Amino acid sequence: MAVDLFAPVTVGRLTLPNRIVMAPLTRNRAAAGGVPQAMNVEYYRQRASAGLIVSEASPISPQGIGYPGTPCIYSAAQVAGWREVVAAVHAAGGHIFLQLWHVGRISHPSLQADGQPPVAPSAIRPAGEAITHEGMQPFVTPRALAAEELPEIVQHYVRASRNALEAGFDGVEIHAANGYLIDQFLRDGSNRRTDAYGGSLENRSRLLQEITTAVCAAVGADRVGVRLSPENSFNDMHDSTAQQTFNHVAGLLADFGLAYLHVVEGDMMSGERQLDYGAIRNRFGGIYMANCKYDLVRAQQALQSGAADLVSFGALYIANPDLVERFRQGAVLNAPDPETFYGGDEHGYTDYPFLDN
Ligand code: PHB
Repeated sequence: MAVDLFAPVTVGRLTLPNRIVMAPLTRNRAAAGGVPQAMNVEYYRQRASAGLIVSEASPISPQGIGYPGTPCIYSAAQVAGWREVVAAVHAAGGHIFLQLWHVGRISHPSLQADGQPPVAPSAIRPAGEAITHEGMQPFVTPRALAAEELPEIVQHYVRASRNALEAGFDGVEIHAANGYLIDQFLRDGSNRRTDAYGGSLENRSRLLQEITTAVCAAVGADRVGVRLSPENSFNDMHDSTAQQTFNHVAGLLADFGLAYLHVVEGDMMSGERQLDYGAIRNRFGGIYMANCKYDLVRAQQALQSGAADLVSFGALYIANPDLVERFRQGAVLNAPDPETFYGGDEHGYTDYPFLDN
């Protein structure tokens, strides 16, 4: 019988009851200091029937912060806040990984210590505007990181991973997608370095390789996933050799024995999709999680054709806490309200109705 969304799957140390994943979703509703709070506990608890939840992206250090209200994972208070979230998900029978985040150039001096410019592989200002406590402000030219600064950033990923396990998370996902720090190194539109971290595919992948090596050593490769977005233009990203770049990255990630590879297949905004994701999946060879505007029909096709092992859903999970049950019944879905995606209170967060409510 062909595999479908409701068939169990082994991911690292876990056996997941289904292949429906809640994608990482920035919601900007943490308390001051990046500490998860009661409404965050309720939001994740409501969605615990997902086979796996990947938490919203969580900065690994103050330098990694790029938006107001994002929950972080570098301090004891943040770990304590996350512990309540994880306990609620586990008590409801769910599984949850934490997504590790450093935004690189997608920050603003007003969000950085002492008003410093954000950091990046190269001093290339992204087009667009930062979201700050004072509203939208143009992005600034970031400061290019010295190679000597990178080991400390790698150590921040390690500290954050250990913190995540201390909070009870089942694993961590390294966010190497969507135009944030690691992706800024991977793609040549944002990386013009001439040292060991720029130029060749080996060099552009070096920071991801070092972070993955260190995080796997700290928590075990079977508790680590990696997320990539080979052709997402979000955050002003470009790569002149996208297919080769990400074939290479998938190949290097094949050697770690990771829990999974999570791929945003296409452009997050337009949904346009040009690359050969089968090639990327084949080079990786392990458990493959597909994402980007999937619905029930396309997700089932992806599993049945062998194009993916799991599928993650973003906007649909914002609006449908019981997405698994709705998919199982072929029920009507609640429509997501973009006005309440980022920031605010329980409205548009924990008040989407369940079936039969
Ligand atoms: C967002 O804030 O819109 C956002 C955050 C993290 C992502 C993608 C989008 O990976």
